[in-house]
Parts: sequence; C-alpha cells; structure tokens
Amino acid sequence: MEEEKNNKLLILYASQTGNAMDAAERLSREAERSDCPAVSVRSMDEFQPSDLPNEDTVIFVVSTTGQGETPDSMKGFWRFLLQRNLSREWLKRVHYAVFGLGDSSYQKYNFVAKKLDKRLLDLGATSIIERGLGDDQHPSGYEGDLDPWMSSLWNMLYQKNPKLLPKGPDFVTSEVTSIDQPKIQIIYHDVDEEQPQLSTSMDLKCLEMQIERARSMTPGKYSAKNRPGCFLKMTKNYPLSRAGSGKDVRHFEFEAVSCSIEYEVGDVLEVLPGQSTAAVDAFIKRCNLNPESYITVEPRDQENKLGASSLLFPVKLKTFVELTMDVASASPRRYFFEVMSIFASAEHEKERLQYFASPEGRDDLYQYNQKERRTVLEVLEDFPSVQMPFEWLVQLVPPLKTRAFSISSSPSVHPNQVHLTVSVVSWTTPYKRKRTGLCSSWLASLDPQQQRVLIPAWITKGSLPPPPPSLPLILIGPGTGCAPFRGFVEERALQSKSGPTAPILFFFGCRNEKNDFLYNDFWLSHSQPDGVLSETKGGGFYVAFSRDQPKKVYVQHEMREQGMKIWNMLAQGAAVYVAGSSNKMPSDVFSTFEEIVSTENQVPRETALKWLRALEKAGKYRVEAWS
Ligand code: 2AM
Repeated sequence: MEEEKNNKLLILYASQTGNAMDAAERLSREAERSDCPAVSVRSMDEFQPSDLPNEDTVIFVVSTTGQGETPDSMKGFWRFLLQRNLSREWLKRVHYAVFGLGDSSYQKYNFVAKKLDKRLLDLGATSIIERGLGDDQHPSGYEGDLDPWMSSLWNMLYQKNPKLLPKGPDFVTSEVTSIDQPKIQIIYHDVDEEQPQLSTSMDLKCLEMQIERARSMTPGKYSAKNRPGCFLKMTKNYPLSRAGSGKDVRHFEFEAVSCSIEYEVGDVLEVLPGQSTAAVDAFIKRCNLNPESYITVEPRDQENKLGASSLLFPVKLKTFVELTMDVASASPRRYFFEVMSIFASAEHEKERLQYFASPEGRDDLYQYNQKERRTVLEVLEDFPSVQMPFEWLVQLVPPLKTRAFSISSSPSVHPNQVHLTVSVVSWTTPYKRKRTGLCSSWLASLDPQQQRVLIPAWITKGSLPPPPPSLPLILIGPGTGCAPFRGFVEERALQSKSGPTAPILFFFGCRNEKNDFLYNDFWLSHSQPDGVLSETKGGGFYVAFSRDQPKKVYVQHEMREQGMKIWNMLAQGAAVYVAGSSNKMPSDVFSTFEEIVSTENQVPRETALKWLRALEKAGKYRVEAWS
C-alpha cells in the first residue's frame, strides 16, 4: 500500500489565464514519458485540500494575478491551508515542489508561489527543490525559467525515488516521436437537411453551450443578480479620440433585451466576442474540413476532462469552429508545435517543428511565436505539409474566451443600459505585421444603425467596490482607466442632488489635449463650482497631457503638485482607486503616493510604505488594471 502511494505524482495547478494549466500539463506529459506509474493533474478547485496529507509527492504550479492576487481557482484551497488548527506536522509525509508564474514588472512578483511555499514548509512538508519562479519578462517567456527548473526537478525526483520515473530523468525531455490519443473524439452524423429549423435551433443551442463554458472560465465573480448570461443590444458606437491621431478609443452603449441588467458602479462586463468569418473560412479550408458536416464532440475518457470540450448534440462543423475555437488566437503553446511535428509529412517541416518543441529551440520558438504573436492559422499556413486531425485541433486551439471591460456608466443614471469605454487595440509586430485585438476590433466593427447587434455578455465584480456617498475619493485613471470613474462621478453627482456627498479628486492622463482627452466636457462640467469634482467642494480634476510638450508629463507629476491636498484627503479617511494599464502605471502611482505621504506627513519612506500597506489592507487602496 505504502509502496503504491510512493509512486504517485500529483500535479496541482491554479491558473487564471491558462499558462499554469499548460505548464502543469507539460509536467504530466513529461513524467508519463518516463513511465511514471501514476500521474494526475488537477486544478486546485477540483481537489479536496483535506486529502493533501495522503499524498506523497505533489508539484504545485500557481500563477500570481494582478496586484499579487491568488487565482480564483485557488481561493478555497488557500483558505483551507491558512486554518490555524492545522498542526506544524500536518504535511510531514508530503514532499513538494512549487513553480510560480508571474511578471517581475509588478511589485508583488510571484507573491502567490512564495506564500504557498512558505505555508507548506510551516505545515511540515518537505521541499524537493528550491521553488522555481517563471517570469513573463524573461526573454523567452516563463518557459525560459520553467525548462531548467523542470530538468532539476526530474533529477531530484529520480534521486529520491527511481520508481517514480522508471525510464530515468533524461527520458522525459527526449525527442518526441509519438503522442497519445487526443482526449476527445469527433463523431460525424447524417442529419436530415430537409428540416430547416433544425440547423438554426442547433446553432443557438451551441451558442448557449459556449456561453456556459465561457462563464465557467470566469468562476466565482458573478454579481448574484445576473446569474444567467444576457444578450445586450448595441445602441451606440462612436469614437472619443480624434481620427488619424494614432489612437482609437470608443464609447459603446448597450441595452438589455432578453433580461434586465443590474449592476453597480465599478462592476465589469464580460463580453463573448464573435470572430471574423474570413478567418473561420480560411481555417476550415487550410485544415481540409467540410464546413457542412454535422459533428458531435465527445470525451474519449470520461475520467480525464482536461482540455476536452464536449458537444453532445450534432451541430454544423462551421458553427462549432465559429462559436468555440479561437482560430485567430496568438502564440499557440509549445505542445501545439510538438503535435504538429508528428503530423508533418515534409521532412524539413518536421525537423523545424521538433526543434521548436525542444528545449534547445525555446528561444527561436519565442521569437517566431510569442514576439510575432503568430496566430494559429498563420502557424498552420507556415507548415503546409501538416495535416492535423480535427480532434487534435479541437483539443489544442484555445477556446474563444470572454474579454472583461470596466463599465463606464452608473446604473442609477442610465437604467437598463451599460456603457463601455474601449481602446481598439492594434499594433505592429517586430516583422511589421499588423495585429488587432479580437474583441475591441470586433466591437468597433459593429454598426448599430445598420444591423441589430446582439452580444452575449454578463456582469462580474471587479476590484473597485461602490463607495458610500460619504467616502472622499482620490481617483487615478489615465487613458481608458477613466472608464469606471465616469460611472463613479455620474453616481455621486446624482446622490449629491438628494443630500451631502464627499468630494472626489480625479487625476486623468492622456497623450494630447486635442486627440484623446476622453469625455473632456463631462469632467469639465462636473468641475464647475457646484460639481462633485469642484475645488471649492474640496475635490478637483487634474489632467496630464503626456505628449503636448517635449518632456513627458504623467499623472504622477500632477499628483506631486497636489501633494498637500492628497495628504489632507488621505488624513481625512479618503479611499484611493487606481485604474488603467497594467504596465508600469500602477506601481509608479503607488511610489508617488509613498513619496507624498513621506513628504507631507514628514515621516521616513518605510513609515509611509507601512501606512499605505495598512490602507490597502483596510480595502481603501484598490487597483483595477488591465493589459
Ligand atoms: P504615453 O503614451 O505618452 O507614454 C494613457 O495611456 C496615458 O498614460 C498616456 O498619456 C500615456 O503616456 C500615459 N502613461 C504611460 N505610461 C505611464 C506610467 N507609467 N504612468 C502614468 N502614465 C503613463
């Protein structure tokens, strides 16, 4: 019995965007290659934490999201681990390793992996190997850190227990010549085409299924009042930035049609995007598929649901691809190249794909794949001899996912409406390919005057809870970071009509006064003497135009200028909300607050930092950041 237990390897992952899941799957495939007698891979929310002491060897793969937060799927597990009544010997028979995925441009780099590692040690578990930290800033992505860490891990595991990896540690990374069966199977059906309504009702059912699946990928954050997904009708789509200025920021308005939509200021709208028909057609053609055939997609093994997407009623292949497979998604994972190499019939293509999938080819793959953000379709077109069975494509092409946008309206001011402020993402890759963001460019392409546009969407909770009218607010929102704050200002302006409200101090930033001063008139009208942003009421509105003079001016600059005012508001109990780009802005703004607290309160920087950390802990320093 004991013998059996010692030869088991459990891989537990907590993923927010799917990278930790990919890494966990890779660990499991590599262990299987060495004939590991029993490997299982589980998401943390599918594992009973009280069973942990029964395991012998556990590898944790966890990502850190946003400002040091735990992925949703880890929240229950982590709460369990923090219980005070767990003894220091609770995990004394468990051996473990932790690999974290994070981004060193954030202040709390790999915070989740670090705290998990520490807690496991506190609970008496034995570390097999020093924790590995994967950094998105690594020249070849987090895999640049994962590869060497995994090699050391296999060596350590083999030394500890050779039976865990019977073929030895070198075998796990050896060249791949065969692969397992895909986890799903496609069944083709004869469907009576004479029944015209059949296909439409199946399409709708497929869409509903896809909505449910997309919803299950953003678990636990629903606003209780909006359980079912909702179809929103787009009523307005107009630019907020000047045409030809190099920026395309748009204002969208939606109305609920099939349900009533209820939300609070600061909530987030999850939108399930449509995809371009041209891309779907090109994908189907490249893969030699028959768009008209009817298929069902079924798991091959009921036990192992990993990566499988099932569809148990017949639907047209084209509908399935269109509604569920993100054919234009960028940078397929390394395993995609590994599987492609098996199905390449031209020798030079096979060799190149094998090289890309090997540790030696990692940097070149990163340049080809991540840096260029090549899409699944482009990669397939670059290797024309590859004929991948549809099962594999369904398993490996990422599912179409929702995109989240901070809502920019107040529901009290615009009942049954939702407004969004969206930057239409486009950029050029190092090899000068033009790239656009799927959801923002799809939304921008829709014309509510010409067509009736219905969009699957639903409300989730963001990081900015609605403030009571008596709470003074300091808001920092450069660019589209102003979106949630438009809602806050609208709401407070309405509240101020029926009673006293606390002031709002808002710092906005954009490139040029003439090009992208979003909602210019709106902010200025609320800055009038009786407005909620008015200086006479103790608030204020300050803008930093970064490119209107030779030297860049950011919101931080304006904040420093208003240091005394900021400190006075903080001392009176104001809350700070920061929203916008997740690059360097949130940490630069945090340092500026540190500087202001230190200067104005005449305390050392460390004391100011402690003060701000306490503010964070009290839920009064909040950040909503997006990339
Ligand atoms: P830039 O593009 O001229 O560098 C909205 O995107 C505004 O935020 C722009 O004016 C942009 O300036 C500015 N911005 C870019 N990086 C920033 C940072 N780290 N802190 C604050 N503002 C920043």
